[in-house]
Amino acid sequence: MTNLRWIAAKVIDEVAEGRSLSDSLQHALQTINENRDKAFVQALCYGVCRYYTRLDAILAQLLQKPLKAKDHVLHALLLVGLYQLIDMRVKVHAAVSETVNASANLKAPWARSLVNAILREYLRRQAEIDSALTDDEEAVYSHPDWWIKKIKAAWPNDWQMILTANNAHPPFVLRVNQQKISRENYIAKLIDHQIAAKALPTLSSGIVLESPLPIEQLPGFAAGEVSVQDGAAQLAAELLQLSPRQTVLDACAAPGGKLTHLLEIEPNLAEVIAVEKDPARLSTIHENLARLQMQATVICDDVANVGAWSNKKMVDRILLDAPCSASGVIRRHPDIKLLRQATDVPVFANDQKRLLRALWPLLKPDGILLYATCSIFSDENNDVIQAFLSEHADAEEIKLDVDWGMPLTHGRQVLPGMHAMDGFYYAKIKKLSKGKSHGTT
Ligand SMILES: C[S@@+](CC[C@H](N)C(=O)[O-])C[C@H]1O[C@@H](n2cnc3c(N)ncnc32)[C@H](O)[C@@H]1O
Repeated sequence: MTNLRWIAAKVIDEVAEGRSLSDSLQHALQTINENRDKAFVQALCYGVCRYYTRLDAILAQLLQKPLKAKDHVLHALLLVGLYQLIDMRVKVHAAVSETVNASANLKAPWARSLVNAILREYLRRQAEIDSALTDDEEAVYSHPDWWIKKIKAAWPNDWQMILTANNAHPPFVLRVNQQKISRENYIAKLIDHQIAAKALPTLSSGIVLESPLPIEQLPGFAAGEVSVQDGAAQLAAELLQLSPRQTVLDACAAPGGKLTHLLEIEPNLAEVIAVEKDPARLSTIHENLARLQMQATVICDDVANVGAWSNKKMVDRILLDAPCSASGVIRRHPDIKLLRQATDVPVFANDQKRLLRALWPLLKPDGILLYATCSIFSDENNDVIQAFLSEHADAEEIKLDVDWGMPLTHGRQVLPGMHAMDGFYYAKIKKLSKGKSHGTT
């Protein structure tokens, strides 16, 4: 039988080399037959990514000399071993012996005794090592140093809460398709199926489950009664102020979570155009539309190439859910902590500004553009909108008069964990029929 710790170590090694966790895990899980084993490997890989920086600091305390760069898979296996001892309900004996057995795949006979020695030494010195790391912020908060510095600088009063929320397990949140069933009736249906759930306040369609569940076990999922979507993402469609016969552009659409929500909220739109540049992600939009029995014009292109994909027909609403650092959704994608570099943030900010500038001419006068990111950094949020407003005399911010998040100079920020939501940013901009007047009342 394939050794599950070995499979997990290979996944972690790939993530450390730059591959996304979901991508690597998806391939790895195909090699496992039993659902229980799949769940074990998944929990192990998510946990190691979540606590990678802390596990690495613990390992450094245990190694007499650092591992060589070529021993990167052994490094990943040692983290997998330590994580089981720290945070999984696995018998200590099984955790140690199975991780030691996994080392046979390394074709380095000495690795077996090293894995055995490191894991047993950790069990002996656990309390001493934990106390040696209490002043090491990277180990305490399990984020690389640059993340900690950037979050501290951005949110001097909230940084500890944010770092802690980033390491928490995210809630499992649903969006009820009120075209098919009311939230109240769907909760009753869940309870009939012995699934504990409650309404998510601040949202009209959100439900949070007590524990996560495979989607196939959600009643009515295949029939489109419900979708899986975090609460913060459910704020977008309502902010768009939709009405019948409008044309809407969803500029960065895959996998189509917000696209299908806006079609649920207003089924009588004239047209919805969904643009997505990544061909590999296009199928996710089609799958979601098909499951929910909805229609949209789906286009694969860089949405900034307006001349290539649009016939310059103007639209009433634009949703720009821009590509970003994803710093608000680390609790769902803990590999982001390892995959991103500090230098990525200004690159995202430039792309966000480029997309806004390119799309603005497509918006009709009196039309609304909703800008969204799942970032918590001002560089990608407030500052992008500030730069845009200063460049466009025909753009005016509509302040968000809502009971969630916190106001910034421009737009509103939800921090991770607030209202049980992911970290998200929204700003709403209206196109004036005439330019802004300056200096007059
Ligand atoms: C934050 S995700 C969008 C999530 C989506 N709105 C939803 O709610 O399901 C950003 C998406 O934009 C796509 N993207 C990035 N740059 C783009 C561009 N220049 N043109 C079109 N799509 C782009 C990415 O491939 C990614 O699928």
